[in-house]
Amino acid sequence: MSTTIRSGSGAGAEVAQPPPRKLAEPKPLSDPVTAMMRYQSPLRYPGAKAGIGKLINEIVKSAAKPLGRPSLFVEPFAGGAATSLRLAGLGTVDRVLLADADPLVANFWTAVAQDTSWLVDRMWDEPITLERWDYWRRWCPSRQDDRELAVKCLFLNRTTFSGILHGRAGPIGGRAQTSGYPLDCRFNRPELQKRLEFVGDLYRTNRLLDVWCKDWEATLADVAEWYPQLLPDRVVAYLDPPYLEKSAKLYGRSFDPAGGYAPSPESAKHARWLHACEHLRLAEYLRRKARYRWILSYDYHDRLLQSPSLYRARRMTPSSEDKDLLGVREWRISRRMLTMRYTAAGASTRSSTREVLLTTLPPSTLPVVQSAD
Ligand SMILES: C[S@@+](CC[C@H](N)C(=O)[O-])C[C@H]1O[C@@H](n2cnc3c(N)ncnc32)[C@H](O)[C@@H]1O
Repeated sequence: MSTTIRSGSGAGAEVAQPPPRKLAEPKPLSDPVTAMMRYQSPLRYPGAKAGIGKLINEIVKSAAKPLGRPSLFVEPFAGGAATSLRLAGLGTVDRVLLADADPLVANFWTAVAQDTSWLVDRMWDEPITLERWDYWRRWCPSRQDDRELAVKCLFLNRTTFSGILHGRAGPIGGRAQTSGYPLDCRFNRPELQKRLEFVGDLYRTNRLLDVWCKDWEATLADVAEWYPQLLPDRVVAYLDPPYLEKSAKLYGRSFDPAGGYAPSPESAKHARWLHACEHLRLAEYLRRKARYRWILSYDYHDRLLQSPSLYRARRMTPSSEDKDLLGVREWRISRRMLTMRYTAAGASTRSSTREVLLTTLPPSTLPVVQSAD
């Protein structure tokens, strides 16, 4: 399993790569029940909504009728990986591949998949206290592949406000711990054990192919290089990038290389500019270079569908060179607006947010939906 970071802005230098894991036939799960539950991911993730996973499962299932069941579903911005875990568990796709540029997140998934029992034992041994919360906030590994990174990721994700791994979010329940939500209120060990073991099960049964720590573009390039036997029509990339706005406050690795904490107004301006460039780089790639079918979800913003540099186009427009040499196709780009309903922690009423889903899967596969929850 690779924890290598390659290419792309802010992604760091290239280091040695282990060989890719071979494609093998998926086997039956030992725990098919967890696959049917509402949640499979052990991580709470800002931006992750269970409703999108259900909807994408329907879209991919319906696209399998004309195109065949996907051999690979790749999630280059994996985060909490809710959608991939659902599709792999239900067998909607043969296998999934998770990748994220944040070493904390990638190391977590690597440990869950490969060292499941170790991580489960380590989770039971870890005291959930404010002292440990402060410890994990300060702790930095001396080696990039230290297994304890997985513990840090799980601990902070389950004990920090909204599951935010980034530096400024505080502990659930605050420093005083006087609210009705104590620090450990989201750290249900038996439930977490079930979900961690479910991921280990996916890995052992070849339904979780691998975990990579890479920039999204390197992930998509390496899938093509390492698995040339996969047919472009049978690979679906699901991209759920950082939000167009606010993401620097939510993710350890947003598209903003300063992580939202630039030291001066001038560098903050520069960071915002780079952040915007990253969204443009992704859009350019998806409109002109993507060799695989893709599904993209974004928090809704007028600019997204109006700007020609983002997603105004209704069809992919690859260069003749990329068409001839790489086989990039002129797939139609379909879109759907979604209203996501959710209940915020501590609130008694439901709120909603707008998302947009874009895809090059056949338009007939997109259900006419108004809301997903
Ligand atoms: C919106 S979250 C993904 C949430 C995920 N879909 C889920 O269900 O939890 C975006 C993720 O992209 C990762 N990320 C940010 N920049 C990246 C890059 N250049 N390449 C790959 N991953 C990146 C962040 O670390 C974060 O985990």
